[in-house]
Amino acid sequence: MAKPEKRFLRALQGQITTPAPFWFMRQAGRYLPEYRSLRTQAASFLEFCYTPDLAVEATLQPLRRFSPDAAILFSDILVIPDALGQQVSFQEGRGPVLVPLRRSADLKVLDPGRVNDLLAPVFETVRRLAREIPSGTTLIGFAGAPWTVATYMVEGRGGTRFEKTLAWEAEDPAGFGRLMDILVDVTAGYLLEQVRNGAEALQLFDTWAGALDKPRFRKLSIKPTRAIVERVKAEFPDIPILGFPRGAGPLYAEYVQQTGVDGVGLDSSVDLAWAAEELQGRCTVQGNLDPQLLVAGGVEMRVRTEHILEKLADGPFVFNLGHGIVPETPAGNVEELAQLIKDWRKL
Ligand code: CP3
Repeated sequence: MAKPEKRFLRALQGQITTPAPFWFMRQAGRYLPEYRSLRTQAASFLEFCYTPDLAVEATLQPLRRFSPDAAILFSDILVIPDALGQQVSFQEGRGPVLVPLRRSADLKVLDPGRVNDLLAPVFETVRRLAREIPSGTTLIGFAGAPWTVATYMVEGRGGTRFEKTLAWEAEDPAGFGRLMDILVDVTAGYLLEQVRNGAEALQLFDTWAGALDKPRFRKLSIKPTRAIVERVKAEFPDIPILGFPRGAGPLYAEYVQQTGVDGVGLDSSVDLAWAAEELQGRCTVQGNLDPQLLVAGGVEMRVRTEHILEKLADGPFVFNLGHGIVPETPAGNVEELAQLIKDWRKL
């Protein structure tokens, strides 16, 4: 059973908690000077992720600054392609670069059998965090959803319009389906191992779900997500799982109905009244301040934050952003936002 004293977990069980629990996607990272300094201790970003001393410290840094209700494991969604045997690197100013897989025959470079062995350092990080985070804080494990991870594996980089991934899927659905099946399988196994090592909740990031039309959204976002949720829940029925199908628009409703997630991350474009009406009756909602308002700060950030709380905090709710904190964000604005959420309706 989930520990009831943790407000984040209570919200994921459908309870209304005052003040609303909060954490921020990408709460660890380059906007923090202490992260930039720590980051110099590893030659590459993947090495940083695979060094428990560094990954534990990076996870803890935002907790010291603004005491969010949840700590998210410091890692990346692209450790999965790396552990599968695809060549992955992160280049300064360019983001991730992978040797792309473009057809069925390319799948032979992948070795699903070794993934959890190669990711042992991540599980050690999870174990240490479970001991080191404050007692009221929830440890969130995560993975990329298969569609989003597949886009990086096929395109070989970010910043595309997914032409090669969508073309492969259209021309050879069976071959692309094998890649998706591999990702469903290793992602479920990876998340289960995070839970065995102390993760108390999980989030699946489907950052590029918005690129899919309705039939493809059902096939490539909802279906694989449901398969992962079922596999994780078969072993850990009480573990709360959040899905983040960014950009899904009206398809958010079907996602919530069909996947079995306990909570859903809303991007900034989702209408709050619609979310309260159509989603919050079925699961906990999380979101959705525009990260650019956090860069700007000031009165606009405050007004929008209060508006989100007005519309969603009467139901099961976790405050978050609509996407990750960007590097330009002043850390002081993040601290101010945290205080706003904690003080809301305190009087
Ligand atoms: O605090 C946290 O959120 C935990 C750590 C975390 C990172 N990436 C660290 C990171 C998490 C949860 C992620 C998820 C992730 N990674 C997603 C899904 C969420 C989202 O933002 O949409 C995606 C699509 C990725 C892939 C990825 N990783 C890209 C495209 C990039 C380059 C662009 C960028 O933001 O830098 C990364 C690198 C990355 N992941 C960094 C960090 C802190 C920066 C690298 C560095 O410090 O050198």
